[in-house]
Amino acid sequence: MDSYTGFAERFDLLIDWDRRRKREETFFRRVLPEKAKSVLDCHCGTGFHCAMLSEMGYYTEGVDCSEDMLRVAVRNLEARGLSVRLHKADVKEMQSVLDRKFDCVLSMGNSLPHEPTDDCLLKALASMRQALVPGGICIIHMEDYDALYKDHDRFIPSTYRRHQNGAEAFIFAIDYFQDQVVFNILSIIEREGNAEFHADVVKYNPVSVKKMERLIQEAGFTDLAIYCDFRLTPHGMRESYDVIFVAYAPA
Ligand SMILES: C[S@@+](CC[C@H](N)C(=O)[O-])C[C@H]1O[C@@H](n2cnc3c(N)ncnc32)[C@H](O)[C@@H]1O
Repeated sequence: MDSYTGFAERFDLLIDWDRRRKREETFFRRVLPEKAKSVLDCHCGTGFHCAMLSEMGYYTEGVDCSEDMLRVAVRNLEARGLSVRLHKADVKEMQSVLDRKFDCVLSMGNSLPHEPTDDCLLKALASMRQALVPGGICIIHMEDYDALYKDHDRFIPSTYRRHQNGAEAFIFAIDYFQDQVVFNILSIIEREGNAEFHADVVKYNPVSVKKMERLIQEAGFTDLAIYCDFRLTPHGMRESYDVIFVAYAPA
């Protein structure tokens, strides 16, 4: 069972799509080359990037290994009237379900660090490169584990939202180990006066920026640029828990 089985519905509540779109849409407009027409989201989760990029006019497909996340993605895309092909596959083996190459491949929202070892990370990156046309662009967004480990905060800011149907609150408690970081996500979801409590556990490989840089190059990408936010501030210019890698398949 993957960490997202059962968690998918709560994960989707955790993400405010409107706020996220405000933060990320301009980034994609700036970074995607004019000639790019097709995008593959290799960890599509509940479908946020598939929906946004499809609405921005790109031909979009999504891959994810979690049946539960894909089920929520299908519902989210249908609710927006979007037709996007989604595939259930492991990113490292996704060639078996793809029947075309893409101008852009994505891995957003701290997904690649689910790969537990350097070898798995390299396989995932090589598979992403294989899905690209020559000269295609690869965008990877994840936590900056160097910054997270430096601060070593046990609790990170929680989300609270009240709306017509009820309310939800999320608190993150982080356990830091040498080769693994564990996000314990505590949620309280209230619907019509009844509250449900859950603790979801998601584990990541706290891969450093330096190691990612090396692996991205080893996977055969070129012209790597590293940013620390969606405004394209170069990495290291300010404190941030985000890191974004942008690289290209050889032309
Ligand atoms: C933190 S979620 C992020 C989802 C989405 N990218 C977003 O930003 O909202 C990570 C996603 O990666 C998927 N995932 C983890 N390991 C995977 C793998 N080896 N192959 C494909 N998907 C994977 C999980 O099922 C989950 O949907």
